[in-house]
Amino acid sequence: MKKVDLSKKSAERLMRERPPWLYRNELPQTLYTQPGETTALVHQGQFLATAFVNPNSTLAARIVAFEPVAIDGDFLTRRIRDAIARREGIESNAVRLVHSEADGLPGLIADRYGEYLVLSFTTAGMERLKGEIVEIFKRLLAPAGIWEKGDTVRLKEGLAVREGALWGDVPERIVLQEREKRFEIDIKKGQKTGFFLDQRRNRRIVGRYGGRHTLDLFANAGGFGIYAEAQKTTFVEISAHACGQIARNCRLNGLENVNIIQDDVFAFLEKDEQRYDLIVLDPPAFAKSKKAKSGAMKGWKYLISRALERLEEGGYLALFSCSHAVMIEDLLPLAQSSATAQGCRLQVVEQLSQDIDHPWMLDVPNSLYLTGALVRKV
Ligand SMILES: C[S@@+](CC[C@H](N)C(=O)[O-])C[C@H]1O[C@@H](n2cnc3c(N)ncnc32)[C@H](O)[C@@H]1O
Repeated sequence: MKKVDLSKKSAERLMRERPPWLYRNELPQTLYTQPGETTALVHQGQFLATAFVNPNSTLAARIVAFEPVAIDGDFLTRRIRDAIARREGIESNAVRLVHSEADGLPGLIADRYGEYLVLSFTTAGMERLKGEIVEIFKRLLAPAGIWEKGDTVRLKEGLAVREGALWGDVPERIVLQEREKRFEIDIKKGQKTGFFLDQRRNRRIVGRYGGRHTLDLFANAGGFGIYAEAQKTTFVEISAHACGQIARNCRLNGLENVNIIQDDVFAFLEKDEQRYDLIVLDPPAFAKSKKAKSGAMKGWKYLISRALERLEEGGYLALFSCSHAVMIEDLLPLAQSSATAQGCRLQVVEQLSQDIDHPWMLDVPNSLYLTGALVRKV
């Protein structure tokens, strides 16, 4: 295994903080490693960590272990098997089995949809191990098919974005079972790896507050509105493909009194005059970095204020942000000032975050990325 000799400063940070990665400027200027090559990080001959080193990436050393290990079939099998075991008991046949650094496998995402698997390889290190990883999943889970989902984050590692079957046949659409609900998802054309698995627990919690009329904004496949089982449900979603999924998912779950609106939520709220008992606001990440935060907050202010206006007294508003750059702590003060301006008060009923198959590791920055709250207008 090649070695990369770290400066005293980088070595000290590595030992003190045990971070999941080192930045390019923390490594020597000239590196003799191939992109993603497994490398020993050392300082003056002393071993510090085993890492994937990629000279082309800002996150240039991804720490895989703080021991000298061979990243071979046995090692990968152990980590993958442990990650799968940690998900036991999740009531769904659609589960994230491996969540990258948070499961000790930097750059590997593995989602299970019934008998199919969807994998993403987002580091050059994992890309090099793809063939081996596919064989391990075949051995451990005997899937009917494995699909590789492209992710633009690969570009940051100097990797092309690619999609396609890695094993067997993967159908266009499959139906997954989440508790008593069923959802048709599209692994190939759907967003993320096909479904927003990270919202599983929140769908169940928020779904208890459906009432007479639910408004599911940024609805994607319609999970929140379907769980809420309100007397009437309005879904708003900009993607025609997702709107088709909402319609099919409503039918699959026997939800009849529905209005599926393909529109921009901002434009919809401008003209909408109905009243609701539950409104769900689950937009895409408006700000992926702190730099974009102030623009995102303007959008949020509008959304929260308009949603509160449309909410019945005693009604519930579920707010989610899926970016570490804007957390629920940033949104609640906006909600409070809108409530004051509108002469109402808000009670926090539930604090919400990503489901447990997307682990939040305190030593992995940004690994808490989905936060939310359910508030009641009183
Ligand atoms: C975070 S996802 C919602 C996930 C969904 N709540 C679930 O649990 O499955 C955000 C959705 O908003 C949609 N979207 C993005 N911008 C939009 C806009 N301006 N108006 C309406 N929908 C939008 C995207 O197509 C995507 O489906």
